[in-house]
Amino acid sequence: MRDGKEIICNYVASQEDLHQKYGGVIPELACRRHIDSLPSLFRKSLCCTSEEIDLIAVTKGPGLIGALLVGLNFAKGLSLSLGKPLVGINHVEAHLYAVLMEHSPVFPALGVVISGGHTALVKVQGVGNYQLIGQTQDDAIGEAFDKVAKILHLPYPGGPQIEKLAQQGDPHSYRFKCGQVKGRPFDLSYSGLKTAVLYTVKGQNASKEAPFLIHDHQKADIAAAFQYAAFSTLVEKIQLAAKHYRCHSIILGGGVSQNRYLRTLLEKTSDVPVFWPPSGLSLDNAAMIAGLGFHTFLQKGADTLDLEPLTRIPFMNVPKENYEKSPSAASLAIAVEPECLRGT
Ligand code: KG4
Ligand code: ZN
Repeated sequence: MRDGKEIICNYVASQEDLHQKYGGVIPELACRRHIDSLPSLFRKSLCCTSEEIDLIAVTKGPGLIGALLVGLNFAKGLSLSLGKPLVGINHVEAHLYAVLMEHSPVFPALGVVISGGHTALVKVQGVGNYQLIGQTQDDAIGEAFDKVAKILHLPYPGGPQIEKLAQQGDPHSYRFKCGQVKGRPFDLSYSGLKTAVLYTVKGQNASKEAPFLIHDHQKADIAAAFQYAAFSTLVEKIQLAAKHYRCHSIILGGGVSQNRYLRTLLEKTSDVPVFWPPSGLSLDNAAMIAGLGFHTFLQKGADTLDLEPLTRIPFMNVPKENYEKSPSAASLAIAVEPECLRGT
């Protein structure tokens, strides 16, 4: 990345093939594949000399501990050997940064992170200045798509499969509903919705291994009704939060933001402009990590080599003090993004 916005190169080594037969990510396999893929992926993306690199940005969390460790240690090795500063990046924050690489929304914006591991509504005042408004209390929205796909015997990752199948179904054929969190209007819950699909397909209190009670042709209706329930509640909460927190725009990030049905639904119902990540930057990628790395370095300086991975990182309200935009401070960053190798 150059200057936090210009992508020089951005490669993704997907692990979908590896995890597909299990219907989800197997952490141990994911870590081993990271170790195998990272050196060659890095060599492939070295399109500049080491003198041109000013900064190494790496995901410090949240995520799978093994995957984070592989990326973090690789980046620390690079930083040490090249004598270049290292900066650790919050993966969830980077999903929101992806949209800012192409668009300049008016702040405050309502940030919506919808991925396989996270579902969060955040008030964004600018890069590095966030206030958490709401989040899922159980499954992430992408996780619910993946689990429902598995119930319907669709391949992993389930989001794109459900979206495709739902096009042939009737969203009102089943009455699925998202759970509500008492006293927390901006929080979400997807676990009950997923269980409702399981019971519809396999019977009340049935195990995941139980046979189908439905005919194959009903699968499209179930996919459509599930997708409708998952997104109609999300969109309602987004609109409610945008109004309540007086946001001038809505920005989205994460793999689920690729969904066309969601895009239409949200745009149809929004009073403020809605911005989506540029093509190729919704799903996990290293460009968003390097881009945010540029700003984080300017705001807070480098991390030390004892930087630890964090499987969970709370969203904090980071004020925008001491931020001087100096283009010479980090003209180029290389990112090492272990999450992009996770395929989720
Ligand atoms: O952001 P991401 O690449 O990884 C995480 O940080 O988790 O998101 C991956 C998630 C998966 O759960 C996948 O099923 C979901 O994004 N996803 C979708 C679509 N494309 C990917 N969900 C719904 N509709 C889609 N078109
Ligand atoms: Zn992600």
